[in-house]
Amino acid sequence: MSNGAYAKAHEQSISDPSAFWGEAAKAIDWITPPTTVLDDSNAPFYRWFPGGTLNTCFNAVDRHVRDGRGDQAAIRYDSPVTGTRRTVTYAELLKQVSRLAGALRGLGVEKGDRVVVYMPMVPEALVAMLACARIGAIHSVVFGGFAPAELAARLEDAEPKVVLSASCGIEPKRVVEYKPFLDAAIERSSHTPEAVVVLQREQARAELGERDHDWEELVAAAEPADCVEVAATDPLYILYTSGTTGRPKGIVRDNGGYAVALRWSMEHVYDVRPGETMFTASDVGWVVGHSYIVYAPLFTGATTVVYEGKPVGTPDAGAFWRVVDDYDVVALFTAPTAFRAIKKEDADAALLKEHDVSSLRTLFLAGERLDPDTYEWASRILGVPVVDNWWQTETGWPIASNLRGLDPMPIKPGSPSVAVPGYDVKVLDETGQPCAPGQEGAIVIGLPMPPGTLPTLWRDDQRYVDGYLSAFEGYYLTGDGGMVDEDGYVFVMGRTDDVLNVAGHRLSTGSMEAAIAGHPDVAECAVIGVHDDFKGQQPRAFVVLKAGVAEGEEERIRAELFTRVRDEVGAVASLKQVDVVQALPKTRSGKILRKTMREIADGKDAVVPGTIEDSSVLDELRGILRP
Ligand code: COA
Ligand code: AMP
Repeated sequence: MSNGAYAKAHEQSISDPSAFWGEAAKAIDWITPPTTVLDDSNAPFYRWFPGGTLNTCFNAVDRHVRDGRGDQAAIRYDSPVTGTRRTVTYAELLKQVSRLAGALRGLGVEKGDRVVVYMPMVPEALVAMLACARIGAIHSVVFGGFAPAELAARLEDAEPKVVLSASCGIEPKRVVEYKPFLDAAIERSSHTPEAVVVLQREQARAELGERDHDWEELVAAAEPADCVEVAATDPLYILYTSGTTGRPKGIVRDNGGYAVALRWSMEHVYDVRPGETMFTASDVGWVVGHSYIVYAPLFTGATTVVYEGKPVGTPDAGAFWRVVDDYDVVALFTAPTAFRAIKKEDADAALLKEHDVSSLRTLFLAGERLDPDTYEWASRILGVPVVDNWWQTETGWPIASNLRGLDPMPIKPGSPSVAVPGYDVKVLDETGQPCAPGQEGAIVIGLPMPPGTLPTLWRDDQRYVDGYLSAFEGYYLTGDGGMVDEDGYVFVMGRTDDVLNVAGHRLSTGSMEAAIAGHPDVAECAVIGVHDDFKGQQPRAFVVLKAGVAEGEEERIRAELFTRVRDEVGAVASLKQVDVVQALPKTRSGKILRKTMREIADGKDAVVPGTIEDSSVLDELRGILRP
């Protein structure tokens, strides 16, 4: 049963956001405390805490050392793939961050300059992000699983002065050399960074060229740098995410609103207090990593686990239980697909019995829909609440969750529970009218969204307005479809656009289509996400070959397309299947009907618009997708 605190908090956050977030802002160390909480004078561009100044790194690191947490673990680095473990205390973190910040300054990085971070899951990735924040530089972390073309697109858009990287990452079956990828990306990009700093790892050392610096040497020679004062509204980072087209969207995150929202969420949503340990098994390249591996635990003076490896395989499917046991983890946060991977290997959870996981209070799952089977299994084996939480790169922190620290409520399988305070969640039909409880429609959020959410897209206000704010006036379009039931529980059914979600990784069909269309024998193509029991979704491509390509060539072309997509987008975007078809379903104006294709694949009776060019094309697809 609810204790009533949620209803009160949510109501106040919507009716009087300034009072609500003004109170929450007291948990942050400001240099100049803000006198205004919400500036709505330039709607729909809302700004939180204008006039306030602070430093994000100070709030994540320095103040804990000042307040006596210097000897407490800030980071527990646990890397089964390299057989390494290391604890970094807050005092050590402060030293490392100050020195790297000084090194960046030595390379000419100033407040407002961009720095791209392309790194595996090592503590230095966090040090890199915090060092940028310390001197007011804007970091843009790129997930290590992306290939050169994706990295190049991000370099071009962010125009970084410096890139911070490592010689390699370690995947279970191979060592992934980062430096050749990075060099190839710089080669392809119209923007060239002035310097590249490389953390050399013994598994594969990188050859350094003219613009490259050895991380350790550079840091050893650097003077520590102090925190600089930035405006609450200055950008802290840009995180690129996949849209429907191949061009990634640069989500901007500001300093003040993010600090306030994340600090509030740690206790109220995730129920983690100062001094406790949170284990978020994701990657710093994703938003979940930014917020709940790095910033939120550190703003809170908690301990964060940096885990380099997979949930299974190295050494076995008991890896997460061992980490929980070793570090007394109170909150474990990962994607449902990680639990499906564990269940596949150890359905009876025999390995769980080898560890003491009694410290664990809650399991949080996000990043993709939590299917009822995974929910039931995880609940049964762990015996703790399993909390689905729904959000996106754009929002930076949960839109819907069960608020474990504020007002734990009953859990309904299939639902990430209720709208988090600050989010005015509504479901609208195609005409913009509110849907009745239980009726499916587009999930939208009333403006303004709370602190921490995106103020705009990097140097592209118009794309922000067109992509998110134009569909329904006064609302932010999430891109997800779903419903809200009579108790206010939100149910998220999936994306209504062409964005894919593979193993909790958000990918763009547009970039995969661009890679496929680049093949000399392909006339046109479409990629759709099809259901997959393990990874949630998998990309499947339909290609029309150019006239004159012989039938016997199909196998070769298929194999080349698999490789092309991996090489251009990244290993995380591996195609599940490539089908050669005679034609793609299109409207008379030539628009490919991807939604119709998805509906056929989902076994739905696809609603075919009257304008379809040639309906016999659909019969071919039905034959392939529903043999
Ligand atoms: N750098 C380089 N390559 C990477 C990479 C990285 N950071 N991350 C993944 N890859 C590669 C993998 O090695 C794999 O390559 P392969 O096809 O040659 O084997 C490919 O990309 C696909 O990786 P992935 O989707 O992770 O599949 P997997 O089978 O290796 O692992 C899971 C499956 C479920 C265990 C894994 O995806 C997982 O733990 N997911 C959790 C998702 C998550 O953290 N989401 C973030 C939001 S919470
Ligand atoms: P990302 O921006 O990478 O975090 O991906 C965000 C998208 O992942 C959302 O728009 C949803 O489609 C999906 N998603 C994330 N969390 C959930 C969840 N708990 N339930 C359903 N879908 C989710």
